[in-house]
Amino acid sequence: MASCLRIQPETGTLPNFDCVVRFYSDWAETYDSEFQSLDYVAPDKTCEALERHLPNKVAKIMDVGCGTGWVGKALKGRGYTNIDGLDISAAMLSRAEDRAVYNQLWLLDVLDHRIQPKEAYDAVVSVGLFIQGHASPLGIKNMLRMLKPGGIACITIHQDIFESNGYSEALRQLVDDGLCAIVEEKQEAFIMKPDIHLRIVTLRKS
Ligand SMILES: C[S@@+](CC[C@H](N)C(=O)[O-])C[C@H]1O[C@@H](n2cnc3c(N)ncnc32)[C@H](O)[C@@H]1O
Repeated sequence: MASCLRIQPETGTLPNFDCVVRFYSDWAETYDSEFQSLDYVAPDKTCEALERHLPNKVAKIMDVGCGTGWVGKALKGRGYTNIDGLDISAAMLSRAEDRAVYNQLWLLDVLDHRIQPKEAYDAVVSVGLFIQGHASPLGIKNMLRMLKPGGIACITIHQDIFESNGYSEALRQLVDDGLCAIVEEKQEAFIMKPDIHLRIVTLRKS
């Protein structure tokens, strides 16, 4: 049984923090059925990308913005067994807990690095967090902090905000600062109905 650690961030680092929490609190109950009907392929495409760079199936993995646990389920389906999750929505975490694929679930804001586990994970994976109105590029730097040196981060960024919302520039800066290398970038489907695309970026921490 997963344990859900209810830690509140000391400050709201996201201007729309409360709004995002409320939004997902309202959506948690119907989220899975709605995504099911859209043919939601992003979790599996992202885990497929992760698997190319992380063959070790007992590697310790953090699913950031885990929501109701689609990514945890996809990881489990590929044989990974040591998975934690974090999210800012208690309602979404409660759904994730029902899937029984996570060891630990954390109520955390990825934008507040002060309260996150440091250098604890072999990999972090994140699907659907870097979209309009959600986590800023700072979230990518904070994810790297959670990784052990040499660890892998596999994240999705929606194509329409990749340049305009500073993700492209932030990635370039992280590489220039020697914090990580980009080992793969791929355009993939997010959902099939309608056909919406995202970018899957795989990083290796220095
Ligand atoms: C579109 S959902 C994706 C959920 C899941 N990864 C999936 O693929 O179904 C985005 C999730 O990110 C979470 N989230 C948004 N901002 C966050 C933040 N700053 N820190 C942690 N989680 C956040 C939301 O609560 C929500 O569960």
